[in-house]
Amino acid sequence: MSSPIYQGLHRKLFEAFLNLVDDSEAQLAALLRSTDWKDAHSLLSVGGGQGIIEASILRNAPHASLWYLDPSGEQCDAFRQYMKTAGLSQRVRDIAQTTYQDYLTDQQFDRVLSIFSWFYIGTEGRWLTKLLNLLTVGGTAILVLPNITSIETIFYRAFSPDRRMTLVGEEVVSALGHLDCTVVQKTYVKWLKTDELFVAEQLSDGSLALAAFAAERPVTSFKLDEIEKIAELIKTNHKARGVPLSWDLILVTRNS
Ligand SMILES: C[S@@+](CC[C@H](N)C(=O)[O-])C[C@H]1O[C@@H](n2cnc3c(N)ncnc32)[C@H](O)[C@@H]1O
Repeated sequence: MSSPIYQGLHRKLFEAFLNLVDDSEAQLAALLRSTDWKDAHSLLSVGGGQGIIEASILRNAPHASLWYLDPSGEQCDAFRQYMKTAGLSQRVRDIAQTTYQDYLTDQQFDRVLSIFSWFYIGTEGRWLTKLLNLLTVGGTAILVLPNITSIETIFYRAFSPDRRMTLVGEEVVSALGHLDCTVVQKTYVKWLKTDELFVAEQLSDGSLALAAFAAERPVTSFKLDEIEKIAELIKTNHKARGVPLSWDLILVTRNS
């Protein structure tokens, strides 16, 4: 995550982006409701980043220990620090600086969590089979990804140089259909209002920053035709309640 959109003058725009797309409270509430955390003894966080959600989950899963993996050394350090500050370091059993694909363990987990990290893993059968093998029988993986209708997905598909970022929940659900598991998909929507997306008919900082984030380049690099395209994509996807920022919570339970 070292894109120039996070730095310097762009930092302000990144904050506008975060204010626009942040739905973390609803995501945490949905995660906490999605499964019985009191029963869980072992959790694996895949691409856990700083670990803010993992800390809240640990507080709601009193018997659980946490295993964590992320290939970014910066994220592993941030996670270590966050868990220390949260007083949860003793509940962390392992921090592996590795990708999911390279992660090796004999351990099986009651819960596996991937919050907006499955982009980097995708729908190949071997990685989905690995997911089931990482679960105990009856264990559940919880994956959070954008929904196909989300403005985020529409921007990724229009501007992202990284095709992996166009992955949506539906594609993972469909690929899991071939495996011995029970899959439940729940879709949630945060409606973005017109006045958050446009200011006096011009694109708001938040809209520009959302497109810049998807394009992985600074807002100032957008040419006039691209700015027009951003405005058109927002207008085309405007529904009665606003523009949908929708995300899927996918529950995958291993059957046998
Ligand atoms: C969008 S961030 C999400 C972080 C965190 N889960 C959250 O919700 O704030 C994606 C994370 O996936 C990690 N990642 C990238 N490639 C990965 C891979 N192949 N396997 C596991 N994690 C990966 C990144 O380092 C990053 O921390």
